[in-house]
Amino acid sequence: MNVLIMGPPGAGKGTQAEKIVQEFGIPHISTGDAFRLAMKEGTELGQKAKAFVDQGLLVPDEITNGIVKERLALADCEKGFLLDGFPRTIQQAETLDGILQELGKKIDHVVDLKVDRGFLLARLTGRRLCKTCGATYHVMFNPPQMEGICDKDGEELYQRSDDTEAKVGTRLDEYTSKTAPLLAYYSEKGLLREVNGEKDIDAVTIDIISCLRGSL
Ligand code: AP5
Ligand code: ZN
Repeated sequence: MNVLIMGPPGAGKGTQAEKIVQEFGIPHISTGDAFRLAMKEGTELGQKAKAFVDQGLLVPDEITNGIVKERLALADCEKGFLLDGFPRTIQQAETLDGILQELGKKIDHVVDLKVDRGFLLARLTGRRLCKTCGATYHVMFNPPQMEGICDKDGEELYQRSDDTEAKVGTRLDEYTSKTAPLLAYYSEKGLLREVNGEKDIDAVTIDIISCLRGSL
């Protein structure tokens, strides 16, 4: 099963993606995670991406498209994949169509997590991530057992550099102007599955899984 997960910054894409890939045994491909790893390692890609990510702006399509093309060609995508954070522009969506056509694949479902803008700032400014395993927490909505420490491996949690109030504003504006138009693009193709992302984390997971299994 080939799935895209969409929604504004802080809608819960990363949180839900981790659960969906476990349920269906498919790889989680996140362009945001790929950029953050490249930035941490200081690679050429990371240096190029940093200038945009740190300002809350989208990284240009010509940089982003190559990552996805390489990743989707890997063998573990044979059984399906979950793409998180890509595509984010109409040009990226058209590029994805071309990549999938070349690989003889197609998208089965596009999950759109619907969350009102009023929820997103609190979700993003309260988010904390594990430095080592990348697990996502929230200081209020999904706190670790010990403050500042990952439940899974005891490592320290950190806050993303683009999770400040000012940068969240820019990210939401980028979403509205460049990414939201994709919802109509996928709706016209009959692929869009809207899910209420305002419920608690486990309830959203249940809704997504039943939607993907075709019973919602
Ligand atoms: P990316 O990493 O994709 O960030 P994003 O889209 O801004 O999304 P987030 O990761 O911030 O949010 P999320 O929806 O995953 O929410 P989460 O599950 O963590 O991209 C970062 C940057 O990389 C971009 O700004 C851009 O510069 C660049 N980039 C990436 N892809 C690109 C592309 N294709 N083209 C160009 N540039 C690209 O949840 C948020 C918080 O809320 C967490 O703390 C979580 O615990 C909590 N939470 C989650 N669900 C719930 C719930 N149901 N109830 C209460 N709390 C919840
Ligand atoms: Zn961890």
